[in-house]
Amino acid sequence: MGRPVRAGGAARCVECGAMDAQERFSRRGFVQVGATAGLAVAAGKAGEASSRLPFGPPPGPIAISSANGLRATTKAVELMAAGRDTLEAAVEGVVIVEEDPNDMSVGYGGLPNEEGVVELDASVMHGPTMRAGAVAALQNIKTPSRVAKLVMERTDHVLLVGPGALRFAKAYGFKEENLLTDAAREAWLRWKTRLSKEDDWLDDDETRADFKRPTGTISCIALNAKGEVSGCTTTSGLAFKIPGRVGDSPIIGAGLYVDGEVGGCGSTGRGEAVLQSCGSRTVVENMKDGMTPEDAVLDVLKRICEQTKTTRLLSSPGRPNFDVNFYALRVDGRFAGGRIYSGGSFAVNDGTGSKLVPEVYLYERP
Ligand code: GLY
Repeated sequence: MGRPVRAGGAARCVECGAMDAQERFSRRGFVQVGATAGLAVAAGKAGEASSRLPFGPPPGPIAISSANGLRATTKAVELMAAGRDTLEAAVEGVVIVEEDPNDMSVGYGGLPNEEGVVELDASVMHGPTMRAGAVAALQNIKTPSRVAKLVMERTDHVLLVGPGALRFAKAYGFKEENLLTDAAREAWLRWKTRLSKEDDWLDDDETRADFKRPTGTISCIALNAKGEVSGCTTTSGLAFKIPGRVGDSPIIGAGLYVDGEVGGCGSTGRGEAVLQSCGSRTVVENMKDGMTPEDAVLDVLKRICEQTKTTRLLSSPGRPNFDVNFYALRVDGRFAGGRIYSGGSFAVNDGTGSKLVPEVYLYERP
């Protein structure tokens, strides 16, 4: 597939004509904003001009998330419908996945670092106040998203890391627990025993089938009927990482960004690529400049492809051998999820139940 073309604000694959998620997913009452729409300035009282973007309010609460977030979007919409704040909605949505030992990309049960220790990263951002909080390389606490929210609410800082983040969490009553489940420990052991034929860790079988290190994360953006938006991204990071490695998830502007007047964006996938592109912030800035969410996401994915020049990160046609996902939700309720290669989906709940929706993409998966 070649580069997507846009028709009426929607992206289609040049080669296969695949529709983007927005066309496929029946939306209620979108306010369509053309690509040329930009910042409008509405004057308030004398000397008190306030900037307002030309987006109407959404028809009701909406939450979007990565594909592992169907339960998160359900919870987030339930909470917003009950009048709870958008950040609480996003965080309590992802907490369901953080506490689930069967999701090996997040929280309890997440895959550990190369020493077999689970280290978690998370960030939150609250659109109405433009405040943010984050933790990185946090050990022994199941719900880093709740700790990140407390960093935002109870400190003058944005990011706490490692032992400092743990001490802060314990000060607020979080219990230390062993986060390494048997399934995660066994996956780590399989990886470790296959690292080299020259060490003393023997393989448990004869085959050395291709072993791809998993990445996984959950990001959730929540928008209420008043047009207030917040987001949260949380992860156990790259499986078997060097201890102390921090990806995009806890970095405001990379794995998450929210502008209360525009919308929010979160990411999953190869964190290093999102860090180097300031990905989520760039998506939100694109929307602020008038791009639709799908165009905003595809633009940043294209930039990531263009700036990937390291040979070991390229597949044969000179394209990245990794993927990155962005999930963007504009304050009028328009949304998109997108990735480099076809085949992905993301979770959406617009008040009619959570469902998976196809992501827009740049290239057909080879
Ligand atoms: N995107 C999650 C990570 O790379 O840590």
